[in-house]
Amino acid sequence: MRIDIITVLPELIKSPFEASILKRAIEKGLVEVHFHNLRDYTTNKQKSVDDYQFGGGAGMVMSIQPIDDCITKLKSEREYDEVIYMTPDGETLNQSMANGMSLLKNIIILCGHYKGVDQRVRDHFITREISIGDYVLSGGELGAAVLCDSIIRLIPGVLSNETSALTDSFQDNLLAPPVYTRPAEYKGIKVPDILLSGNFPKIEAWREQKAYEHTKTRRPDLLSD
Ligand code: ADE
Repeated sequence: MRIDIITVLPELIKSPFEASILKRAIEKGLVEVHFHNLRDYTTNKQKSVDDYQFGGGAGMVMSIQPIDDCITKLKSEREYDEVIYMTPDGETLNQSMANGMSLLKNIIILCGHYKGVDQRVRDHFITREISIGDYVLSGGELGAAVLCDSIIRLIPGVLSNETSALTDSFQDNLLAPPVYTRPAEYKGIKVPDILLSGNFPKIEAWREQKAYEHTKTRRPDLLSD
C-alpha cells in the first residue's frame, strides 16, 4: 500500500511514522508513506497556500491551485483508489471503514487547515471525507495520523501475531475483555482464578462473557446494531 499525505505542516505528522508498529511496517516494505508540503506547489510569489474567503467572514480558506497541482502530479504517476479529505464534517471513522481501507493500494490524504479548503477542491478532487470524531482539531494532520495507524496495523504482516488485530475492540461489535499479566497477585489484588486454570475453552467463554458485559455497560449502542 502507498499513502501520500498532503499537508502544510509535514513536521506535525511525520513522527508517528518514525516509531513502533508504523515504523516497522514501513521498514518491512508493507506500506510506503510520502509527505508533500503544499507550500512547494504554490505558484504565487508569497508562497501562500490560503486566502480570504469570498463574501467576507473570519478565517482563511485553503486555495485550490496548490492542491490541484499536487493531486494532479500524483495522479499522473499512478492510479489512486481514494482521495481523502480530513475534516470534522466528514463521515466518522470506525473499524469497518479502517478494515475496508486496509485493502486499498494507493490513497491520497489531504489535511485541512484554517476554515477548510475551497469547496471546489471537495467537489472535484475528493472522493471521501473523513472525521476522527465530533470535535475540532487545529488541522487534519493528527486525524490523518490516526486514520493511517488504524489502516496500517490491519495490513497482513504488520502485526507479528495477526490474530491480535482480530481480537481488538470493535472488530466484532464487542469491546475487548480485560487482560492481566504477572504477578498473579499484587499487593493482595488477584487476577481472576479462571485465567490461571489452564482450561482454555472455559477461559474463552469467560472472555466472551466479560466482553459482552463491558460492551453492555459502556457501549450498549454496539449491541443493537
Ligand atoms: N480536522 C479538524 N478536526 C478534524 C476531525 N475531527 N477529524 C478529521 N479532521 C479534522
